[in-house]
Amino acid sequence: VGPDVIDIRKLYGQTGKFTYDPGFMSTASCNSKITYIDGDKGELLYRGYQIQDLATNCDFLESCYLLLKGELPNATQKKEFDDLVMHHTMVHEQMQFFLRGFRRDAHPMAVLTGLVGGMAAFYHDGLDINDAHQREVSQIRLIAKMPTLVAMAYKYSVGQPMIYPKNNLSYTANFMQMMFATPCEEYKVNEVLVRALDRIFILHADHEQNASTSTVRLAGSSGTNPFAAIAAGVACLWGPAHGGANEACLQMLEEIQANGGVEKIDDFIAKVKDKNSGVRLMGFGHRVYKNFDPRAKLMRETCYEVLKELGLENDPLFKLAMTLEKIALEDEYFVSRKLYPNVDFYSGIVQRALGIPTEMFTCIFALARTVGWISQWEEMITDSEYKIGRPRQLFVGSPTRTVQPIAKR
Ligand code: ACO
Repeated sequence: VGPDVIDIRKLYGQTGKFTYDPGFMSTASCNSKITYIDGDKGELLYRGYQIQDLATNCDFLESCYLLLKGELPNATQKKEFDDLVMHHTMVHEQMQFFLRGFRRDAHPMAVLTGLVGGMAAFYHDGLDINDAHQREVSQIRLIAKMPTLVAMAYKYSVGQPMIYPKNNLSYTANFMQMMFATPCEEYKVNEVLVRALDRIFILHADHEQNASTSTVRLAGSSGTNPFAAIAAGVACLWGPAHGGANEACLQMLEEIQANGGVEKIDDFIAKVKDKNSGVRLMGFGHRVYKNFDPRAKLMRETCYEVLKELGLENDPLFKLAMTLEKIALEDEYFVSRKLYPNVDFYSGIVQRALGIPTEMFTCIFALARTVGWISQWEEMITDSEYKIGRPRQLFVGSPTRTVQPIAKR
C-alpha cells in the first residue's frame, strides 16, 4: 500500500499465517489523516501543519478544531467553536457526589479514569455511536468538561471546594482559575502563564498511534461508547513509560537534588548506564523520535519564558535539569542510542513553576490528549475498513493435557 508498507492481509490472505511483532514496532494498525511524525527528521504535523507553526500561531481550541474537523477555523468558526466548548464546561452536579466516593488520598489519575468512564452514566444522549450528532455532542462534552474534571480531582485531593467554570475566560485561563482560585481568593490571569499551559496542551494534543491512542482505538473498535473508550486511554496514559514520564522525570530531579544536586549527576548517570539498576534517565528517549523531539524544543523555550516571568531563573531544580541535559547530550551512552530529551523533560519543570503539583501532571496530559483520542476514535468509527481489533498471538504454553483428579495432582 506504500513504498515501505506491505498489506499483510493481502499477502497472507487465507493461508493462516500471521506476523509476530511485540510492541508493534513494525505494524501499522490503521490508516490515518490526522497526525504525521517523521522520527528521523524530528517532525510532527497535525493535519499537515508543523507543530512549531501551530504552537506559535494558534491557541489550543484552534488546534482542537483542526484535529477534529481537518481544517483550521476561520474567525466566525473559531468564535462558534469556542462558544460551544465553553458552553459545555459545567459537569452534571451529581458527578460531585460520585467524586466524593473516592478516598482523598487517591492518585488523581485513578479519580480521573473513574470520572471519565462515569460520564457514560451521566450523558446517555451521547452514547449511540451510529448517530453523527450524538458523536459530535460527546466529543464537545469531553473536550469541554475535561478541565473541569481535572480541576475537581485536584481540589478534592487538597480538600478544597470545587471552583465552577467561568465561561467568559479562555479555555486555558478558565482551567487555571478552576485549579487555583478559592472561594476566598480570585485567580489573577497572567497571559504569559496561560499561554505556556496552552502550549503544553497544543504539544500534547495528538501523537498518532501511541499506546493510549491505540488503546482508545482498540477499546472503541468493539463499538463501546466514547466515554468508555476515552477512559481506557486515560488508564493507559497513566503508565510511567508514557504519560507518567513527566511526573517520573520531576521525581527523578527531586531525588538527585535531595541526594546532593549537581555534584551527584555523574553518580546518577553511572547508575542509569548500569543495566542491572533498572534506572532510566526519565524524559530522555522516544520510540519514534531518534534525533530530537520537536515538542521538546518548543517546551524548552516555554520553560525559559515561564521561569523568567516568575523570576525563577535561578531555581536549583531547573539548574540541575539544564546541567543533566548538557551532560547527557555529550555522553556516548546516550548519543550512541539516539537518546535525546523528550517533551516531558521540560514540561514537568514548566508545570511545577505554574504551581501544578507533580501528581497532577498526567491529568494535564490526559486533558490535552482527549482531543487527539476523540479525533482518532471518530476517524476509526467512520472508516469503511473499521473492524474490531483482534491481535493474534504466538502460543508458547503447554501442549494439550488432561485434568487429573485433585487427589492425584
Ligand atoms: N535512559 C537510559 N537508557 C535508555 C533510556 C533512558 N531513558 N531509554 C532507552 N534507553 C536505552 C535502553 O536501555 C536500550 O539500551 P540497550 O540497547 O543497551 O539495551 C536502548 O536505549 C533502546 O531502548 P528501548 O527501551 O528499546 O527503546 P524504546 O524505543 O522501546 O523506548 C521509551 C522508548 C519507552 C520512551 C524509553 O526511551 C524510556 O523508557 N524513556 C524514559 C521514559 C520517558 O521519558 N517516556 C516519555 C516518552 S514521551 C511521551 O510519552 C510523551
